[in-house]
Amino acid sequence: MIFMNLILLSDVLCVTVLQIKAQWRVTYISTEICALKGSTVDINCIYRYPHTENDRVTRVVRTLWFTNKDDEPTDLRLDSDYAGRVEYHSWIDGYRTHCRLRINDLRESDSAVYKFRFITNQPGGRYTGEPGVFLIVTDAPKVPSVSVSPSGEIVEGSSVTLTCSSDANPAANYTWYKKNGNPDQEAFRTGPQLDFVSIQSSDSGEFSCTAQNELGENTSDSTSTDVKYAPKVPSVSVSPSGEIVEGSSVNLTCSSDANPAATYTWYKKNGNPVQEPFRTGPQLDFVSIQSSDSGEFHCTAQNELGAKRSYCISIDDHSWTLFPSSPLTLERFTAQCRMSWERRHLTPPLLMSNVSEMDLVLDIMWEQIP
Ligand SMILES: *[C@@H]1O[C@H](CO)[C@@H](O)[C@H](O)[C@H]1NC(C)=O
Ligand SMILES: *[C@@H]1O[C@H](CO)[C@@H](O)[C@H](O)[C@H]1NC(C)=O
Ligand SMILES: *[C@@H]1O[C@H](CO)[C@@H](O)[C@H](O)[C@H]1NC(C)=O
Ligand SMILES: *[C@@H]1O[C@H](CO)[C@@H](O)[C@H](O)[C@H]1NC(C)=O
Repeated sequence: MIFMNLILLSDVLCVTVLQIKAQWRVTYISTEICALKGSTVDINCIYRYPHTENDRVTRVVRTLWFTNKDDEPTDLRLDSDYAGRVEYHSWIDGYRTHCRLRINDLRESDSAVYKFRFITNQPGGRYTGEPGVFLIVTDAPKVPSVSVSPSGEIVEGSSVTLTCSSDANPAANYTWYKKNGNPDQEAFRTGPQLDFVSIQSSDSGEFSCTAQNELGENTSDSTSTDVKYAPKVPSVSVSPSGEIVEGSSVNLTCSSDANPAATYTWYKKNGNPVQEPFRTGPQLDFVSIQSSDSGEFHCTAQNELGAKRSYCISIDDHSWTLFPSSPLTLERFTAQCRMSWERRHLTPPLLMSNVSEMDLVLDIMWEQIP
């Protein structure tokens, strides 16, 4: 309708302004076109020019289409980006000359402003249709890719960012999903990035993201986060749990949550100053327990990220007891042990307002430091 109005208007104008040569004109049928990637688009126009000027009959010697992408207009037929994909058409319909640019197999990079220019035999007789036609090539999102930064091992407490990206036009929005074993995935977060300021072991899992725009959606493969962490305080269990009967089988088991899995070492307090590993492995088995097996035991759980010491377990002829003291990391244990030792020699007696940890430290210090 707009086009028709323009033509009618120009016809009216022609009548009145014919004498002042206001007839150089290019009219585009639409000035904004959206087309899907891979499809074919036609950009249509109509142009006119004075039949004669300076007593010379106007003849069109050349027509071309170009984009705003280059400083100098380049005939699209000569542009390697469009090689084999563009066709020019023109035909006359009464007093109007139709012009058409056809672009096949549209690419996203074809999004640009397209202008038609015709060149005549008249001096300065060239004319470009302004403002041109704005072509937008749209595309449904591609399969998104997920990147994890920093790359490599993910350690508990560190900052980790997952980024989802997908080619799409218009730009896609993003939704994250976390696989929790349940088949119905619920949106976990929206936005292109998933930020973990201080990642926790509970953040381990499989993540995927969906990119969506008006034209469709696409979902990434899943990416797993495997958060590594130092062992948690190991727990100690005794089997059987009841009274200890001489000659029976008794097992002590040390277990700790850790990633990668912890290795375990058992220690027995033998009155010797330096504690040497009593047994390695999570389990301490007494096939036939004897009173000589009585003593105090503890275990440590260790992986490449750290170590933790368990509570102590005391076994005597008939029973066992776990005894107290908050478990300490080996590093803290050693540091506190040294500190206590120094204090003991400098300022005895040691003042302790909160005994729980220091008790243990002292307890073991006597064993460690001759
Ligand atoms: C998802 O993206 C792939 C290319 O990465 C494309 O072939 C496929 O058609 C897209 N799916 C949808 C539903 O748009
Ligand atoms: C993403 O875009 C689609 C289509 O434009 C819209 O329907 C949807 O609500 C948007 N989702 C989010 C999370 O913004
Ligand atoms: C102790 O462990 C051994 C081997 O792991 C097993 O055969 C035995 O039954 C266990 N004893 C108890 C009391 O759990
Ligand atoms: C002892 O230490 C624990 C843990 O550090 C703390 O929760 C508690 O309040 C302390 N007790 C006293 C009496 O200071």
